[in-house]
Amino acid sequence: MADWSPSSWQSRSAAQQPEYTDKGALDAALTELRGLPPLVFAGEARTLTAMLGEAAAGRAFVLQAGDCAESFSAFSANSIRDKLQVILQMSVVLMYSTGVPVVKLARMAGQFAKPRSSNTEERDGVSLPSFRGDMVNDLTFDATSRVADPQRLVRGYYQSAATLNLVRALSKGGFADLSRVHQWNQEFAASSGSGKRYEEMAAEIDRALIFMRACGIDLNGELALHEVDVFTSHEALLLGYEESLTREDSLTGDFYDTSAHMLWIGERTRQLDGAHVEFLRGVGNPLGVKVGPKATRDDVLGLCDALNPDAIPGRLTFISRMGAETVSDVLPPLLDAVKDSGQPVVWTCDPMHANTYQHASGYKTRDFATVMTELRNFFGACQASGVWPGGVHIELTGEDVTECLGGSEEILGEQLEERYESMCDPRLNARQSLDLAFQVAELLRA
Ligand code: PEP
Ligand code: CO
Repeated sequence: MADWSPSSWQSRSAAQQPEYTDKGALDAALTELRGLPPLVFAGEARTLTAMLGEAAAGRAFVLQAGDCAESFSAFSANSIRDKLQVILQMSVVLMYSTGVPVVKLARMAGQFAKPRSSNTEERDGVSLPSFRGDMVNDLTFDATSRVADPQRLVRGYYQSAATLNLVRALSKGGFADLSRVHQWNQEFAASSGSGKRYEEMAAEIDRALIFMRACGIDLNGELALHEVDVFTSHEALLLGYEESLTREDSLTGDFYDTSAHMLWIGERTRQLDGAHVEFLRGVGNPLGVKVGPKATRDDVLGLCDALNPDAIPGRLTFISRMGAETVSDVLPPLLDAVKDSGQPVVWTCDPMHANTYQHASGYKTRDFATVMTELRNFFGACQASGVWPGGVHIELTGEDVTECLGGSEEILGEQLEERYESMCDPRLNARQSLDLAFQVAELLRA
């Protein structure tokens, strides 16, 4: 990596960066960040790479899930706990139904910055800079709120630290203990069809644990029954922030971006000669790249060369987000090309981002049925190419929101206004997420 440094991205063109008017204030914020402790350790990132390597080899499944955008105002212990709870429930459903270990990757503790399709937003003849996530500016539609404020980078760091602290406490401190599998089922979800199905599964797990104890197995001593590994991830969009949290690992001398365990490059910033690819190729973390319907064989092979020249299993995950029908046409040649190249990548499916549309009521939404169609077609394409479907990438919340339509307890168009709380893209609620987990488990078993 002789020609790489944490700042070498600066000589490339960086898409989707905010315009900071006060460069002095930006420098001050980045300097402050450079002096703050890492949020994650290099060793944890290496552990995650090894676990993703299992998914690349067809021996594990990745569940990457969380908010589209975390928010400063909706920050609370309950919302973090509820989100983690849904991720734990989905993991149990997937593992119990398939017998495959699930790698838990939260879109949390740093998922604050959003790429936008336009630099400006127009309303009633007024044009203002687009909202780019709470780490950049404020959602309120007025000129002052939409100014990019560098101090928001620092606030995002501290909120990430507090979030990660709670995630670590919950996942290691008893909350994730398998004996609590019933308690993860929230009231509003428990009464639904998938909630009841989950209860039955939880009862079977209880019986299995009792049986193992009766056999004389010391369950107290089995750490894996009492705690889980939950890793953090976000789109590495704001390169100044990511650079400031990049540190040299004292053990290996390699650089790691310590803002999260896994970083991904978005569909809008994956240019081979762009700044995002340049920055991320030099850090040791496992990486993801979103791959949309315009991606070509050359794009994915070029990304493999740039980001994983040593072909390390688990280093690179391609997150396919093609659209429910498009995926069947576009994905197969990409799967084949990467397979033929021998690259040990993980292929996962984001069935959300290419299936968003504006409902007649004005709300941005997604249909549960369309999300499932993309997943089914993704699994079909993988099977036809002899590639392991390595995981799913979902936008969800533990709260009882009405943002996506459908699901077994159907959400209807007129209900969107009831509890539409997302600042950005529409998320599955806890019931829809459980529905999805059961259906994905069936696809995986098949
Ligand atoms: C996202 O994951 O929220 C996102 C913006 O995705 P994409 O880059 O795939 O559009
Ligand atoms: Co989104």
